[in-house]
Amino acid sequence: TGDINILAIESSCDETSASIVANGKVLNNIVATQKVHEKYGGVIPELASRAHQQNIVPVVDQALKEAGMDKKDLNAVAFTRGPGLLGALLVGTSFAKAFALGMNIPLIEVNHMQAHILAHFIEGKTPSFPFLCLTVSGGHTQIVLVKSHLEMEVIGKTLDDAVGEAFDKTAKLLGLPYPGGPLVDKYAQQGNPNAYSFPMAEIKGYDYSFSGIKTAILYFLREQKKANENFIEENMNDICASIQHTFIAMLLQKLKKAANKHKIRHIAIAGGVSANSGLRASLQELAKKHSWEVYIPDFQYCTDNAGMIAMAAHFKYLAGDFTSQTVSPMPRMSF
Ligand code: KG4
Ligand code: ZN
Repeated sequence: TGDINILAIESSCDETSASIVANGKVLNNIVATQKVHEKYGGVIPELASRAHQQNIVPVVDQALKEAGMDKKDLNAVAFTRGPGLLGALLVGTSFAKAFALGMNIPLIEVNHMQAHILAHFIEGKTPSFPFLCLTVSGGHTQIVLVKSHLEMEVIGKTLDDAVGEAFDKTAKLLGLPYPGGPLVDKYAQQGNPNAYSFPMAEIKGYDYSFSGIKTAILYFLREQKKANENFIEENMNDICASIQHTFIAMLLQKLKKAANKHKIRHIAIAGGVSANSGLRASLQELAKKHSWEVYIPDFQYCTDNAGMIAMAAHFKYLAGDFTSQTVSPMPRMSF
């Protein structure tokens, strides 16, 4: 038959994930989240690699089982080549290469950031080209002009920290465990976003900077704690709401500018931070005002997952874009 069944692996950071896509339909998305990093306040690369090593066979087995498929039913195997942590990427890459060799099927390399964007084609309303995608994760903050499934151009990016990193680092200052982004979101829902104000960086073009505001927050908390040592505990909701409000304002200001300049009204968000409820709501509001068509991914496809790698792999399979056995991971891969 002419079936296209692809197994996809994601192992760029701290989630080990496998997914099966059959003829363009993502059948499942198995994610093993690594808990070991929590107590360290950040991802420890060496521990991530070891956990991937332990999790990869079980997640692949489960994906095949849930799809009701055997290894022999697969037509290709895909993996995240980068960007990400070298040791973590190496586990997925080596697994995929060995699997392809053993089963005598082609290999497909996928760019993790491109895959975050292509998550929009998994289900629901799919964006029409060209569209702009604000890709916001723990490692990246980009405005991408998406011309087709595989043709994308980064038109703006952060010059220093990613917004997810800024969320996580400020959460750490507030004494919250890693990853703090979702917790800031949770507290922010009960707080006043205008309780405190923080300076927004003035950066040219569509670029971003999040390191200055992180420092401003550090000094702000230090000052407040001088007057009241319980300042954080007593004002957690308002502090989180105000910080989140500032991050969102910075993100959307540049997105709006890019949309106007490029005359594009199809706007998407992707990546871990696109799970943020404040960002989702603010984008909807902005969309109403500017009559944008917005695309917001389902929660399971916001943070790292193999479903998005599978979707990207399907498009690459159709384009005949395969990878050789000599491929190695690319921690700083761009597109
Ligand atoms: O895409 P992702 O899973 O991994 C990377 O490729 O980096 O993104 C993880 C990032 C973390 O910084 C995490 O704190 C952030 O996404 N994040 C959130 C939320 N959910 C995840 N940040 C703010 N609000 C959320 N609800
Ligand atoms: Zn990611």
